[in-house]
Amino acid sequence: MLRVGFFQFAPKFGEVATNLSKIVSALRDAEADIIVLPELPFTGYLFQDRSELVYLSEEPAKSTTVSSLIALCRDRKFFLVTGFAERSDDKIFNSALVIGGDGVLHTYRKLHLFDTEKEYFDPGDTPLETIELRGARIGIMVCFDWIFPEVARILALKGADILCHPSNLVLTYCQQSMLTRCLENSVFAVSANRFGSDIRPRGTVTYTGQSQIVDPRGELVYRTKSEGEELYIAGIDVKRARDKWMTQRNELLEDRRPEYYTDLIGK
Ligand code: ACM
Repeated sequence: MLRVGFFQFAPKFGEVATNLSKIVSALRDAEADIIVLPELPFTGYLFQDRSELVYLSEEPAKSTTVSSLIALCRDRKFFLVTGFAERSDDKIFNSALVIGGDGVLHTYRKLHLFDTEKEYFDPGDTPLETIELRGARIGIMVCFDWIFPEVARILALKGADILCHPSNLVLTYCQQSMLTRCLENSVFAVSANRFGSDIRPRGTVTYTGQSQIVDPRGELVYRTKSEGEELYIAGIDVKRARDKWMTQRNELLEDRRPEYYTDLIGK
């Protein structure tokens, strides 16, 4: 069994050190293989403008936040998939980092920016890739990527067993929709959402909580409440994601008819 889970909490906007220490203390005794954290868990989400994001974003290689997380992973012998406001030269991405005891193993930059993110983040420029952790192949998507079924499909085609999904969900559709993403691709998904609100001069955004783990048949393994902090870890059998037979004659990926899907490309 692979132990995968999430930590749901309510980051305080702009309080990077406070948010980091909340995460480190919540995970201090966790027994897990992979833990997913929300999107932008150190900075908060609702930036005033690009200059505020410039101030709060960090280059992972120079970030004391990231070095603390690497030390935590080394100590606890788990991997983290975490949202991160990633500065890279003059660009800033809404990224997810895969972190282990040896460092940052993978970076994914959110492809589909949501609402005000378009004002201050650069759109992602990393391909959809999967990486292997402890014998499981994981694919990363960030929050609003859920509404584009191509993302989960491509990750499944690249062998993902588990979709790791750092989120700051605002609309109310995602948690139910992820049941379908998992069923149609026969994958697990761990959606780590935040709860609470960012109350900023420009307005207030409230997040939906209900972080969840879904299995390859689209069944909920667990969904937490819309409010409240929780670290939840489940044992999953990754092999279940590799059985993509829906009937004796229907294999989900082999039965596709890509020659009829060409309209998806380049439109
Ligand atoms: C979102 O993509 N944070 C809604």
